[in-house]
Amino acid sequence: MIGPVPEAASGDNSALLARKAVAATKVRVAKMFLADGWLQTALKLEHRPGQERMARAVAAALGNDEALIVEAGTGIGKSLAYLLPGLLLAQETKRPLVVSTHTIALQEQIFKKDLEICRTLFRAVPELKPFADFLATVLVGRANYLCPQRLARALQTRADLFERALHDDLERIVDWSLKTSDGLLEELQPPPHYDVWEAVNADSSSCNPKTCSPDTCFFQRARSRVRKAHLVIVNHSLLFSLIHAGAGPETDARGILFPDDFVVLDEAHRIPETATDHFGARLSSFGLDRALHALYHPKTRKRLPRPTRLETRPHPRHDRPRRRQTLF
Ligand SMILES: Nc1ncnc2c1ncn2[C@@H]1O[C@H](COP(=O)(O)OP(=O)(O)OP(=O)(O)O)[C@@H](O)[C@H]1O
Ligand code: SF4
Ligand SMILES: [Mg+2]
Repeated sequence: MIGPVPEAASGDNSALLARKAVAATKVRVAKMFLADGWLQTALKLEHRPGQERMARAVAAALGNDEALIVEAGTGIGKSLAYLLPGLLLAQETKRPLVVSTHTIALQEQIFKKDLEICRTLFRAVPELKPFADFLATVLVGRANYLCPQRLARALQTRADLFERALHDDLERIVDWSLKTSDGLLEELQPPPHYDVWEAVNADSSSCNPKTCSPDTCFFQRARSRVRKAHLVIVNHSLLFSLIHAGAGPETDARGILFPDDFVVLDEAHRIPETATDHFGARLSSFGLDRALHALYHPKTRKRLPRPTRLETRPHPRHDRPRRRQTLF
């Protein structure tokens, strides 16, 4: 679990309110998870000491903006142990909670099962009622959304864009575009040909939200849901590619993906491979050999010409704004 770097204590009213919110959350979390607590009385769930310990530790870590690593046996109920404190604190402090998973199966479990349990509990306990209307959404990359503008253009120019065999896929997308409410690629079964989807998805350098209405743009609607959500579910791969592309808050604001967010990484044992994919460099003996031969080839005795002047490249941070817009 990772959290933003704490700010220096400001001593103002908002810091006092935040401390009160954290204290109230810790008390409520204790009342939920202890023996004969709300989980047992309102939902007839079991008292699980390991789960209680984890939930209390999560509430304290999120409240104090501290990092926490939890390793616990399978099936003890880790999801509820971070979702319940996280949802309370996100709403109390108006800071978004981001939960990242490795698998789609876990995203579905959280969205369809665990969040329902949280909502039922919040509704069942009078003290928790104000928290029952939380908003949760799943964040997916923009290439997963249909762009109606590009679809209209692709329809007009299909003869130049695709070979005849792909026209059926385009027709299928047109039919579906009239029915879908989310415009998400995963709804299209079987998936369309890669080239067709590439021509009609929302990941385009020509995208300009100012010229399109949110009423017709699936991506803008999804982005607006993400901005309002108390809980955003994401997968590790997208999270790390967004961080790598500089999609986080502007330079001085704290937060990982959104200003002032809390981030929980579930299935965290998969983080090293995902982080390596996005931040690492790969080196193979074949690639190294090829690069060295490009410099000087012993058989052909060819070598690279000396550069006549030094090439200057902008620092990667300089293209942050462009990338931010492209990805998010
Ligand atoms: N206190 C509880 N009493 C009864 N069932 C619970 C309780 N807490 C969670 N559960 C249920 O236990 C099951 C396992 O929960 P969960 O998936 O969160 O476990 P986990 O610790 O994350 O396991 P894994 O390591 O396999 O991911 C779920 O069906 C969940 O609804
Ligand atoms: S805002 Fe971008 S994604 Fe949305 S309809 Fe317009 S061009 Fe397409
Ligand atoms: Mg789990």
